[in-house]
Amino acid sequence: MFSSSFILLLNFSQIITLFILLLFFTVVTLSYIGKKRNYELSNIKLIINGIRNNRFKSPEEIKLEKQLVELEGEIKSMFLRTQNDIANLKKLERVRTEFLGNVSHELRTPIFAIQGYLETLLNGAIDDKKVNRNFLEKANHHTNNLNTLLNELIDISMIESGQMHMSFRYFNIAEYLEEICNDLRPQADEKNLQLILHPIKDNLQLFGDKIKLKQVFVNLIQNAIKYTEKGSVEVLVEEIKKQGKIIVRDTGLGISENDLERIFERFYRVDKDRSRAVGGTGLGLAIVKHIVEAHGSRIEVKSTVGVGSEFSFLLKK
Ligand SMILES: Nc1ncnc2c1ncn2[C@@H]1O[C@H](COP(=O)(O)OP(=O)(O)OP(=O)(O)O)[C@@H](O)[C@H]1O
Ligand SMILES: [Mg+2]
Repeated sequence: MFSSSFILLLNFSQIITLFILLLFFTVVTLSYIGKKRNYELSNIKLIINGIRNNRFKSPEEIKLEKQLVELEGEIKSMFLRTQNDIANLKKLERVRTEFLGNVSHELRTPIFAIQGYLETLLNGAIDDKKVNRNFLEKANHHTNNLNTLLNELIDISMIESGQMHMSFRYFNIAEYLEEICNDLRPQADEKNLQLILHPIKDNLQLFGDKIKLKQVFVNLIQNAIKYTEKGSVEVLVEEIKKQGKIIVRDTGLGISENDLERIFERFYRVDKDRSRAVGGTGLGLAIVKHIVEAHGSRIEVKSTVGVGSEFSFLLKK
């Protein structure tokens, strides 16, 4: 009412002036908002460029206008994710290079040895009855090592690329361990070690993948035999509530506290020369750890240098 009577009071030229003033005011306001938006957009562009070119060290360096605080939060979390991805990629690259270096080094050792024996034999030693058989046996020993290494590498790559298919069932642990211990007893006998499988309840059934677990037991018992000079290797199963605890104990060299943290890493050996001499590449425990963890369990180790070691893990009853 008031505004319509106010307009009626104005003459035509005043209306035009008012209109022009309003238009001017609108244009000025819009251009101010446009400039502000442009400034904000170029700021965002700068920040994105900065992230792309690794210019920021921390998310605190990323700042937007007060009213864009939500967007600022989003950009900061994107920045943190990118940083994390970059760090992971760098780590992966380092691990890959290290792995390739280790693999080629491990392959080179037996291949050079086999090559050396074969060349010596071809250069005349083949007719020397005192050495020819011995050289062939040594070459054969290295071929076996090479075969073990390749099988372990295949296992590791299957496990780490997520292609290890598990097949869980209940099985009789007493029969199962008896069979494995019987297979490995000749290796213990050769070193005059006692391989003792403690009595296990006849009908005790544990839950797991028998085939994959065989690799675990063979490696743990073989390690115990390899790294024990005198005494015994014992295998026990203890029942704890709804689980069976399997223990492989030896009276061997033992492992120092520093090494204990690392023995499950790929290619880690406490004493490289000694391990290599007994045919070890340091992949066994890395495979053991993966398989035990795939059973929802954890491998535990206790050890005292010069006294012995004990490896154990739980399986569901
Ligand atoms: N029972 C043990 N007593 C003392 N040292 C051990 C024992 N088990 C493992 N180790 C140490 O841990 C290292 C890693 O063991 P792992 O089984 O991964 O490798 P390996 O036996 O040397 O080779 P691989 O199993 O690949 O043939 C061994 O080289 C050895 O130094
Ligand atoms: Mg081993």
